[in-house]
Amino acid sequence: MTTATQSIEVRRLSPALGAEIIGVDLREPLSGEVFEQILHAWHENLVVLLRNQDLSEDQQWEFGRRFGPLAGGHIPELEGSREGIAYVSNVRKDGKLIGILPDGEMQFHSDQCYRELPSQGSMLHAITIPSAGGDTLFANCYSAYDTLPRDVKQRLVGLRARQVYDYNLNPTQRGTREIAADVPTWVHPVVRIHPATGRKALYVSRLMTSRIEGLAEHESDQLLNLLFDHVEQAQFIYSHAWQKGDVLMWDNRCALHARTNFDPAETRLMRRITLMGEPVVAG
Ligand code: OGA
Ligand code: MN
Repeated sequence: MTTATQSIEVRRLSPALGAEIIGVDLREPLSGEVFEQILHAWHENLVVLLRNQDLSEDQQWEFGRRFGPLAGGHIPELEGSREGIAYVSNVRKDGKLIGILPDGEMQFHSDQCYRELPSQGSMLHAITIPSAGGDTLFANCYSAYDTLPRDVKQRLVGLRARQVYDYNLNPTQRGTREIAADVPTWVHPVVRIHPATGRKALYVSRLMTSRIEGLAEHESDQLLNLLFDHVEQAQFIYSHAWQKGDVLMWDNRCALHARTNFDPAETRLMRRITLMGEPVVAG
């Protein structure tokens, strides 16, 4: 008996980051060999996209867990039958939202950076998308780090920043200054090393990073805003216009993501898988 070597096509999505994987139907069993190729493409490109998929919750869950253990923290009142699954949606049932992050624009962030062990990656499967807007933008934090001026890189050595799950606390917004007692927050290195690639990535974001430790507030604000403006430059960004059936997975350790606005009267329904967290290694 001969075993055919299955090979997939990997096509780059943009100069900044991202790769489309062609030739895989995720409803079929995925061989170890093909999975390794997808994993490799993910590590190399920060984002992988598989188009025209039509996955049940089980099938998406099976694919997601190949990348590692899935995150806990499932909210029982929301749709999704198990840990690691949630819906990102503005859909309501009996007047109640079935998912998280329902409406509007979201600034750049990295999922769960405010936890001790932030999620390594997140995956969205587009089920219903609005006719316009609701694009997801991804920024390459390796390239952002690599292209910083030498003196800025030097300044970042050993620095740590407070990450907060309160969208009003960042230096861009500054709606409030106090971190409420129930708001999740953690301090992480400003530059981290990716465990799989060994590369250094900038690990701050406009939405969730409030303060660099050990600096006066105005100095921290100045440095953070410089870093936010740097990482958000067009050359580091891939903007994803969703199609129904897309399965897209990003790496929270080396990429930030953001969302553009869309009409709240239109339905947006994505099924999300969140991979479990892991320790952040300082770069
Ligand atoms: C997320 C997220 C962006 C989007 O699921 O963590 O930020 O485009 N989603 O819905
Ligand atoms: Mn997010």
